[in-house]
Amino acid sequence: MLAIRSIAAPAQRQCLRAAPPAAVTLSFHNQRYYSARHERVAKFNGVKDSSGRYPVSLIEGDGIGPEISQAVKDIFEAAKTPVTWEPIDVTPILKDGRTAIPDAAIASIKKNKIALKGPLATPIGKGHVSLNLTLRRTFNLFANLRPCRSVAGYKTPYDNVDTVLIRENTEGEYSGIEHVVVDGVVQSIKLITREASERVLRYAFQHAEEIGRKKVRVVHKATIMKMSDGLFLNVARDVAKDFPGIEFDAELLDNTCLKMVTDPIPYNDKVLVMPNLYGDILSDMCAGLIGGLGLTPSGNIGDECSIFEAVHGSAPDIAGKALANPTALLLSSMMMLRHMGLTEYADRIEKAAFATLAEGKVLTGDLGGKAKTYEFAGAIIEKL
Ligand SMILES: NC(=O)c1ccc[n+]([C@@H]2O[C@H](COP(=O)([O-])OP(=O)(O)OC[C@H]3O[C@@H](n4cnc5c(N)ncnc54)[C@H](O)[C@@H]3O)[C@@H](O)[C@H]2O)c1
Repeated sequence: MLAIRSIAAPAQRQCLRAAPPAAVTLSFHNQRYYSARHERVAKFNGVKDSSGRYPVSLIEGDGIGPEISQAVKDIFEAAKTPVTWEPIDVTPILKDGRTAIPDAAIASIKKNKIALKGPLATPIGKGHVSLNLTLRRTFNLFANLRPCRSVAGYKTPYDNVDTVLIRENTEGEYSGIEHVVVDGVVQSIKLITREASERVLRYAFQHAEEIGRKKVRVVHKATIMKMSDGLFLNVARDVAKDFPGIEFDAELLDNTCLKMVTDPIPYNDKVLVMPNLYGDILSDMCAGLIGGLGLTPSGNIGDECSIFEAVHGSAPDIAGKALANPTALLLSSMMMLRHMGLTEYADRIEKAAFATLAEGKVLTGDLGGKAKTYEFAGAIIEKL
C-alpha cells in the first residue's frame, strides 16, 4: 500500500495540474486506495524491546517544552507505564537548501513508529520552514486528530463539551501551490485528491468505531467548491458504505460554525472530518469552547508513524520558571497510549489528571492557581 502510494502520488499531482478539471474527477472515479474494505489505516506497528517496554521518541521541544515533558515523564514513571523514552533532537539542518530533520531523529521515529512532541519555536524571518510542517511532511502525517473535552473545575461558557474533529493534514488549501498570473493577480491552488481524501475519511470512520461514536459528519463547502469539496464529499459517501454501523451525513462549514458556538452539545455524539483549512480553523474554535489551546491535545496520524503533541506554543514568556501547565501535553500522551493499545494506563492517568483539575486545589497560574509545574504533576501522581 505504502509503496504504491509513494510511486503514484507525484504522477497524480502532475496530472492534476495538467488535466482539465472534468477529467480529474472521471479519472479517479471508483478507484480505491485501500485494497481490503476494512484495511486498517494508521495501525500502530511498534515493537516492544527486550524488557517488554515500547520505545517512544521524545521531542522535548523549546521554551516550556522540557518542563512539561518532565512532568509527563514523572507521571508515566509513577503509573509504571511500559514506555522507554528515547530523547531526540530535531534542531533543523539544511539539506540541498531545504529545512530538514536530522537523520538520527528520523531514524528514531521510523524505528519506534511513535513520538511525543513538546512545542517547537519557529524562528521568525525568511527562509525558515516551520519544523511542525516539516515533521508532518517528512512522515506523511495525513490526519490531525483534535478532541476537545470540557475540564470539570475550569468554568467556560459551555459545560460538557466533548467534540472530536479530524482534519486532513497534507493537501487542500495548504498544498503550497501558488503563483503570480500577471502582476497584481495571484493564484493559489486547492488540491484535493481521492487518495488523501479516502485515507483520512477511512481513518475518521475507523476512529469513530474505536471510540464508540455512531455518527461521522463531513464538514464541507461543496456548494461553492463543487469539484474539490465535491470530490471529498463523494469519497466520503463511498467510504461510508464500508461502515454500515455508522450513520453518515454532511454539513456546510458556515452552518457548523454557527450551530457549534450556539450549542456544541449536539456534536458530542459525532466525529467531524473535513479538508485542511476548515479543520485548522474549526479545531481552534472547538478549543475555545473548552477554555483555549492550553488544555487541548492533538495527534498527527500517519500510516508509518504518528506524533502526538500539545497544540500550544513554547510560551517563551514563562519558560524556565516552572509556571507552565503540562495538561495539554499529558492529554496528548494519553491519546498516544490509546493509539498504542495501552488504554488501561491512559484511563488511569487521565482519571487522576481530571480529578486534580476538578478539585482545583493544586492548579497552575493559567488556571487561576499558584502551583508550580512539578507540584501539579505531584498532585496527579498522588491520585494514581
Ligand atoms: N505546536 C507547536 O510547536 C507550536 C504551536 C504554536 C506556536 N508555536 C511556537 O511557539 C512560540 C511562541 O508562540 P506564541 O507565543 O504565539 O504562543 P504560545 O502558545 O507559546 O503562548 C501564548 C500564551 O499562552 C501561554 N501558554 C502557552 N502554553 C502554556 C502552558 N502550557 N501553560 C501555561 N501558559 C501557556 C503563554 O505563556 C502565552 O502567554 C513561537 O515560536 C511559535 O512559532 C509552536
